[in-house]
Amino acid sequence: MTTVLQINSSMHGKNAQSSRLATEFVQSLLAARQANRPGGNPGDTVIVRDLAKQPVPHLTAERFQALAAPASERTLDQQRVVAESDELIEELQRADVIVIGLPMYNFGVPSALKAYFDHVARAGVTFRYTANGPVGLLNGKKAYVFATRGGRYAGTPADLQTEYVRQFLGFIGIRDVEFVYAEGLALGVEQRIAAVADAVSRIGQLAA
Ligand SMILES: Cc1cc2nc3c(=O)[nH]c(=O)nc-3n(C[C@H](O)[C@H](O)[C@H](O)COP(=O)(O)O)c2cc1C
Repeated sequence: MTTVLQINSSMHGKNAQSSRLATEFVQSLLAARQANRPGGNPGDTVIVRDLAKQPVPHLTAERFQALAAPASERTLDQQRVVAESDELIEELQRADVIVIGLPMYNFGVPSALKAYFDHVARAGVTFRYTANGPVGLLNGKKAYVFATRGGRYAGTPADLQTEYVRQFLGFIGIRDVEFVYAEGLALGVEQRIAAVADAVSRIGQLAA
């Protein structure tokens, strides 16, 4: 029994290349699990969190204060903000596998994903401070990130996105992270087809 959380962060909805790769991976993973266990895996669950369809608001001082306020002192507005954050965090806590569709926008992550990260990094809930530094609390999970880019950056100092996402996930305890890239998508039809084919082939290997 596995719970998969798929987080789509593209603004392009169903046409998004990153979301399509993420979906392909989730379907392949579930199909492989089914094939390996003929009786099926009736407990397998997929949660899809689409950050374009249901945007998480930008973090503001008011929202941050709500997240930091002691539970007994929260106003009604603050309780609402915390409930939104709790819902996102509960999905992460339930998930065994986290799959992220990650387009590159202006050299970084979509602001929709940054807003999401800002609402799931909660001291005492997803990480805690210790004398030896912060410790992530979302342990035992595996993450797969499907990164789509118009240009080519993987493995170069210009790829600021990969280290940022790895750093953030590690901070909340998710350290087992696999990146799959489809790069050069804006560099012509041939390069685009080849990049997507490579990513799909990698998906087949990872899901098996
Ligand atoms: C607003 C915007 C900014 C972009 N910035 C970059 C960039 O900095 N570097 C890059 O390689 N591609 C960039 N691209 C291209 C996207 O990364 C590429 O089209 C990717 O496939 C988008 O994924 P999606 O279809 O899942 O949204 C940008 C595209 C958009 C729409």
